[in-house]
Amino acid sequence: MNLYNNIFPSTEEFLLKASEIIKNGGLVAFPTETVYGLGANGFNPIAVAKIFSVKNRPSFNPLILHIDSVSSLELLTTIHSEKVLKLVDKFWPGPITLVLPKTVLVPEIVTAGNSTVAIRIPNNEIATKLIKLSGVPIAAPSANSFGMLSPTTAVHVANQLQNKIDFILDGGKCSVGLESTIVEFTNDNFFLLRDGGISSEEIEEFLCEKLKRKVLENNPNSPGQLKSHYAPIKAIFFIDEVDISNFNKEKTAIICFSDDKKYSEFTFRKILSTKADFTEAAANLFFFLHELESENVDFILAEKIPEIGLGKAIMDRLTKAVNHYR
Ligand code: TXA
Ligand code: MG
Repeated sequence: MNLYNNIFPSTEEFLLKASEIIKNGGLVAFPTETVYGLGANGFNPIAVAKIFSVKNRPSFNPLILHIDSVSSLELLTTIHSEKVLKLVDKFWPGPITLVLPKTVLVPEIVTAGNSTVAIRIPNNEIATKLIKLSGVPIAAPSANSFGMLSPTTAVHVANQLQNKIDFILDGGKCSVGLESTIVEFTNDNFFLLRDGGISSEEIEEFLCEKLKRKVLENNPNSPGQLKSHYAPIKAIFFIDEVDISNFNKEKTAIICFSDDKKYSEFTFRKILSTKADFTEAAANLFFFLHELESENVDFILAEKIPEIGLGKAIMDRLTKAVNHYR
């Protein structure tokens, strides 16, 4: 038995119940392969407004619409581009979100007034079943309070949002563990807005072109790009930017990339991947940070990670957390 009365197993019965809640304008937290989402009917502005209120999310921060089939694209975007179709054909379902010009069907509150809308098909059967049963695109940000760590288990959602949400579908630990990569398509060009679960190298290799970067620091259109955004409750620093002799070995946690022999004098040590595997490291990052939030530690020291492949997204999240305390 679980201790939470708002977490339900993802059986057919509870999936059906969850879809009824979505259809009736309520909120459901659900698993995706990246992180848990806090979902509402993406065509219902009042339901979507509840997401902003539960998360304390600023209204200028647009949401991603989750769909279960490429055929839904024509309802949501005015663009018909072979290049976009080829890209989504390759990477959907999966951790890549496309930002495209929106149709009039997409409510302004979803896009925070932008003329573009963010869309993805998640690679998680519970998520796609829920979308299918609901019969609408599901608008969902990560199911955390604004500025806090993204949840990668149902219990993380329950602990953060507590009684503000009635229904959480349990899908175990998220396999990717980091949010999706966000790519905008404008004027026939692809722009990278956020590093995430699919590395930019993999996308560039497939497209045979470089992704352009938008330098939009502190641009409210994409708060995922803010310098400080993801922050654990405990103060976190990069190991090479502090004098570690100043830290109490019993009450400071270390997050290492791969070497499990280093820093053995510290009581709390988390190794992201003993095999130095970026995919495994990505899946563990938020999970470990959540664990450390409830351990008896005052500080977290993190090792820097090589910025190749998924290492870029991991360093992006770590840097944003560290910036919070810089
Ligand atoms: O993996 C994910 O992307 C997860 C799961 C639940 O799908 N969702 C997620 O949502 O991370 P959220 O709201 O935490 O982050 C979405 C990011 C935000 O930084 C938002 O600003 C950006 O997407 N975004 C959404 N619509 C946009 C738009 N029209 N133009 C630019 N950025 C947009
Ligand atoms: Mg988020």
